[in-house]
Amino acid sequence: MTLIVRTVAEMRAQVRAWKAAGQRVALVPTMGALHEGHLSLVRLARQHADRVVATIFVNPKQFAPHEDFDAYPRGEAADVEKLASVGCDLLFAPNGGEMYAPGFASAVLVSGVSEPLEGAARPQFFGGVATVVAKLFNQSQADVAVFGEKDYQQLQVVKRMARDLDIPIEIVGAPTARAGDGLALSSRNTYLSTEERAAAVALPDAMKAAAASVAAGGRIDEAEATAVAALTAAGFGPVNYVEVREASDLSRLGPGPICEAKGRILVAAWLGKTRLIDNMAVG
Ligand code: PAF
Repeated sequence: MTLIVRTVAEMRAQVRAWKAAGQRVALVPTMGALHEGHLSLVRLARQHADRVVATIFVNPKQFAPHEDFDAYPRGEAADVEKLASVGCDLLFAPNGGEMYAPGFASAVLVSGVSEPLEGAARPQFFGGVATVVAKLFNQSQADVAVFGEKDYQQLQVVKRMARDLDIPIEIVGAPTARAGDGLALSSRNTYLSTEERAAAVALPDAMKAAAASVAAGGRIDEAEATAVAALTAAGFGPVNYVEVREASDLSRLGPGPICEAKGRILVAAWLGKTRLIDNMAVG
């Protein structure tokens, strides 16, 4: 059974009791609308700790006013069942007032790695993520936290933030869970119509082809342009970015072939009214 708590004090008391008993505690932050990808994070968290705390909070600070905060899928009862099915010990599901009390006036900003790609397309996003994640780390006092590689830039931003602020927590990245046709699982996939869902496979296909071409010594600028053309032909548009970047600081690579660096290809593109993101290692 998964215990549900709504306040920081309740979560802290439980975590303190586990730690006093010598147990290691893992945190899996989510915004709910849980799917197999989230459950794989909980399973991985279990491998790193004795107890797993999941959090569900649709964080208003990481949405711009024109984005989908109101429409973001919510369904706590179904989420709780799924968490219980993978042995999650505790769910922290605070309301807005518990997370951002009246007068809340602080923010955590991570420069550098948060600036390109998602940071350029969604300028409010990483400030909101870093602020809420820093709060969740402090609130839970967990030993380890698991984040999906699906949001690869977010994972790098969180690692940078924890290092820079000396937060004593280990950050673990989990491989992206994918549907049979290769589309990365995402809560926002529920926005896709049947036709869009069928077309969406072009995204992992274009990304894989570009990664393979760069890994085989091809030019980065040509691989990126080919992927943009493939996405456009499949009905995506606008394509926000297809870029091969250095894997940990996300600095720009190319335009020629990769030399020594470890690369990551990152993609964001609209399909109808849905914005999809994905990424994979190059080589
Ligand atoms: O990846 C998410 O679901 C969110 O960005 C996170 C990390 C839970 C912060 O709100």
